[in-house]
Amino acid sequence: MIYKRLAVSPISGAMGAEIGGVDLANLDDETFAEVKQAFRDHLVIMFRDQNMTPEQLLAFGRRFGDLDIAPFVKGMDDYPAIIEVVKTARDEVNFGGAWHSDFSFKREPPLGSILYAREVPAVGGDTMFSNLHLAYETLSSGMKDMLDGLTAIHSPRRSYSAKAIASRSRAAMTIEADETSESTWEHPFIRVHADTGRRCLFINDIYTIGVKGWSEAESRPLLKFLGAHAVKPEFTCRLRWRKDSVAFWDNRCVLHNALNDYSGHRRHMQRVTVVGEVPLGVSDMAVA
Ligand SMILES: [Fe+2]
Repeated sequence: MIYKRLAVSPISGAMGAEIGGVDLANLDDETFAEVKQAFRDHLVIMFRDQNMTPEQLLAFGRRFGDLDIAPFVKGMDDYPAIIEVVKTARDEVNFGGAWHSDFSFKREPPLGSILYAREVPAVGGDTMFSNLHLAYETLSSGMKDMLDGLTAIHSPRRSYSAKAIASRSRAAMTIEADETSESTWEHPFIRVHADTGRRCLFINDIYTIGVKGWSEAESRPLLKFLGAHAVKPEFTCRLRWRKDSVAFWDNRCVLHNALNDYSGHRRHMQRVTVVGEVPLGVSDMAVA
């Protein structure tokens, strides 16, 4: 892909790119078109040295779609579509510290999430990403065929039940259970990307809790295998944050994991989430 406006530097062979030459607070249409293309090409894109007010951060998100109001996690008082992801020097548990895609338990999981680094430790607190297209494409044909006929059950319960929240208090964030904490939603294992038509393995360790029609004893080993397969090192990239860095990832085909390796230091990010669509499986596409 040739970019006229952007300087695009891939981060790993699997995914991810750092983008130079962009002021996200002042984005003309031609540059935005290339940002969108880079997002499609690289699945997670990172911008350095951005200077954005909350309004500008929201405006950048809105260029990709409507903004989501996060369940369970309270947004900023004046900007409910922005959640502040904070770990203080005294907190032990971080937010998002395991492989997952954001809110996959929703009927329409987010299209993508934007994270803006306001305060980061001198070292540590990187975020890892994994490319679920590669995870799908490297499965055997037998496994692909089996998964194509299966439906996964997703739920927020492991993270957002009252018990789970109480066991992992984060002083700096307001996280509360509600009547949907134990809810479940079904999604295809094999998801067809709405923009590209490319298939991916749509599961994650936190929110995928079972296989429809299978017992827990049957589901567990399959999900364990797929969870480990999905994050093989060769499918991943790792973003190192600096203050004022912004990253945007495609939550439909990417897993991420916020590393918790900066004990005694504060990290403060702002997140905006873009509304997505109902995940479609291979058979949905055949019908369409
Ligand atoms: Fe996350």
